[in-house]
Amino acid sequence: MGETSAVRGGVAVVASLGFPESGKQGLFRDFWHPVAWSSELGPAPLSTVLLGERLVVWRGPSGPVAAPDRCPHRGTALSLGSVDAEGCLSCPYHGWRFDPEGRCVEVPQLRAGMPIPARAQVPVHRCTERYGMVWACLGMPRASVPAFPEWDDPSFRHVACERYRWKTSPERMVENFTDFGHLGYLHDGLLGTRDDLVVPDHRVRREGLSLLYEMTMEVPNPKGLFAVADLDSARGTQRNSYVLSLPYTIHLVSEYVARGGRRVLFFAVQPHGDGTCSGYCYQSRDFDLGGADEPYARFQALLAEQDRVVVESQEPLEVPNQLGAELHLPFDKVAVAYRRAMSELFGPDRQDEAEAGAALAAAGGGGTCS
Ligand code: FES
Ligand code: FE
Repeated sequence: MGETSAVRGGVAVVASLGFPESGKQGLFRDFWHPVAWSSELGPAPLSTVLLGERLVVWRGPSGPVAAPDRCPHRGTALSLGSVDAEGCLSCPYHGWRFDPEGRCVEVPQLRAGMPIPARAQVPVHRCTERYGMVWACLGMPRASVPAFPEWDDPSFRHVACERYRWKTSPERMVENFTDFGHLGYLHDGLLGTRDDLVVPDHRVRREGLSLLYEMTMEVPNPKGLFAVADLDSARGTQRNSYVLSLPYTIHLVSEYVARGGRRVLFFAVQPHGDGTCSGYCYQSRDFDLGGADEPYARFQALLAEQDRVVVESQEPLEVPNQLGAELHLPFDKVAVAYRRAMSELFGPDRQDEAEAGAALAAAGGGGTCS
């Protein structure tokens, strides 16, 4: 999006976000992030950007593979290449072939019997497939891929919504998903109504790397527009239980109290690190199992578009570090808890620690200072 100012060692330094790879983005490297829908990963390799690093993702015989999208020979984008039946990726320039562990197994220009240099390899990242999504971790994972317990529950039907890419920070995108005050105003008639904007009481608690909160609220029945609710009447009561897995994934169970149907939203954000991010969302349900899926996807797409216009307008692009920089009222409890937790995990002090650790490691250190 024209906001990347420089690339050092293959990792972008993003001017608009104001943090280098070894700082804030470095800390986020130790978490799993989505990089593609599984359905997108066909016979050809994909190119994507995660935390400022351009990645090639391809399908190997035992699962997806993610690596820097850069051939060690001449820096060509490996995502322009092709994948063979053994799951090896060939560079489009000179045809060097890399196996799913990143080792170069063929250099067609070498005479028979000549060894392939050990440095001819791509450093693959941790990569896995869960819930019909491909996830990558660029560092050492501090947590598992966030839980989506209904995924394997046969009483649920899952609808993958169209991924959306917004010009905003992942924190703004996550906060929007969990902002109660806007539901009836911005999404009038869909998730609430303008005649009922007072946010019901709720509490937020922190458990390790998760925030948990519940809220029971009145919701409209949008059936005239979208057949997506387990409601007969014009309004109903919904009990919502959220798990926000830090930093960027939300699992929401919405139960329609009168009839017991449950709608589950699983929402994960891919931080591109270039001033944009992508949202992956499932609308899952354990009612209307024989009904059409399309209204659920269209419903989510409309909500996302209403949100996009507002969220992309927010300044600054990043959520401010200081709580006092924006106003918080009692119904903004989740945002306050999220900002506190994010600051504790990824704030300036932690960035300094990470940078000091990286500097120590680069100097071959590990001893103590006196
Ligand atoms: Fe990739 Fe030469 S640039 S094989
Ligand atoms: Fe919204």
